[in-house]
Formats: sequence, C-alpha cells, structure tokens
Amino acid sequence: MLTYSNVNVSYGGLPVLKDISLTIKEGECVAIFGHNGAGKTSLLRCSVGDVEGATGTISYRGEPIVRGAVFMNSRRGIGLVPQGHNVFRQLTVRKNLSVAGLNSPGGTLEEVYRLFPVLEQRGNQIAGSLSGGQQQILALGMSLMTKPSILLLDEPSTGLAPVIVNDVMDSLRQINLRGTTVVIVEQNIPATLKLVSRAIVLKAGRIVFDGAGGDLARKEDLWAWF
Ligand SMILES: Nc1ncnc2c1ncn2[C@@H]1O[C@H](COP(=O)(O)OP(=O)(O)O)[C@@H](O)[C@H]1O
Ligand SMILES: [Mg+2]
Repeated sequence: MLTYSNVNVSYGGLPVLKDISLTIKEGECVAIFGHNGAGKTSLLRCSVGDVEGATGTISYRGEPIVRGAVFMNSRRGIGLVPQGHNVFRQLTVRKNLSVAGLNSPGGTLEEVYRLFPVLEQRGNQIAGSLSGGQQQILALGMSLMTKPSILLLDEPSTGLAPVIVNDVMDSLRQINLRGTTVVIVEQNIPATLKLVSRAIVLKAGRIVFDGAGGDLARKEDLWAWF
C-alpha cells in the first residue's frame, strides 16, 4: 500500500534517513520507534510529500506520492496527524472538523461524533480551551474528516495522562479494525506495543528492527535496539 524504495533524506548535507526500503500493507497497524533525532518525523513527512530533497521513491497504492503537494496526497487517502495538538485554537470544535473536511469529500461529522462523542458534546467550545487530551482527540477527528485509508500519527500520546493515552490507543484500535491502515510513531513503547502487530525501530536514520511487535517486546536487550 505504502512503499519506500531506497529513500534518503538529508538536511543541509546531513543525512537523516539512509536508504530506507519498506512496505506497509493494507490494513496493518505498525509502530515506528526510535530516539529523538532518529528520523521518525522525517519518515512520516516524506509519505505526504512534505520533505524537499528526499530521494528514492515512495509510492502509495502503486502510484508515486506527489512531492510538495500535501493536499493532493491527503486527497488520495494519506492522513497525517502531526506532532503537537494541531488544531485551530480560536475556532470551535465543530468548525475545526468542518474546515478539516473541506479538502476531501468523505468523512462526515456524524461518523467522527460516533467514534468520539466528546467532540459532539464540546462542539461549540473553542478548541484552544480543550484539555490536551481532548485537543489530541480533535486532531484525530480532523484527520478522519479526510477519510484516510492510511493514518500516520506522530507521537499522539505525548503530554497526555496515562488514562487518556489508553483512550487514544483504543480509538486507534477501532479505527484500524474499521479498515484504516495505521502507522504510529511513539515514545510510549509499552502502550503502543499493545496496539500494533508490527514494530519498526529506526536508529540514526536506518531501520535496525522490523518485525512482530511481540518479538520486540520479548527482547531482553530491548534498549540495545535503540
Ligand atoms: N527541517 C529541518 N531542517 C534541518 N534539520 C532537520 C529538519 N527536520 C529535522 N531535522 C533534523 O533531522 C534529524 C531527524 O529529525 P526527525 O525526523 O524530526 O527525527 P525524530 O522525529 O525521530 O526525532 C534531527 O537531527 C533533526 O534535527
Ligand atoms: Mg519527531
């Protein structure tokens, strides 16, 4: 579904992704782990065409992704939830959702409300006044308004209380069970390993592990992989 072939990225001559080749299959739920600076965000941003100067090829359902045209890739079904609570803070929750859906006919408010009733309850609230967890749920809801067939998430649990992290992971499980492919970059390895079936570890821009999440969890020298 999403295939990287020999992808290299460098910023100002410094390589951050080195010869990445990997395939994410339709329906998979995959984690990407790695230390700060390992290249995780760059890898996600490449998939929506948002990294200038990436070399190699990335294709989505057999067609190359369009570099520099994030909105076109989004319309093709690639949804990226960037790090941080990316919401329009001055707009209401409902307005955030409807603005997010403008680019792609598809997701409806009703579907998003069914998955996240809190967003319906808070529909008229200004997004900037939501809690961090609620803003993260809103950012997720906004990405669903584009009806993605693959959802890429950059550290969605950062800054959230543990019980909220579980809620977010449960929502992602439901989204995946409904047929959306999920790729999640996370620092919270234990919570994420409960969700995913496959884990990839990036170290200094290279893939050093790609296999079953359970195999990674069972490694006694887990940290040596990072
Ligand atoms: N736009 C940029 N310009 C220059 N350097 C960047 C840019 N984005 C990321 N980097 C650098 O690339 C490396 C990988 O960053 P990133 O992909 O954000 O890693 P991660 O998400 O794993 O922390 C880091 O050293 C970071 O400082
Ligand atoms: Mg990052």
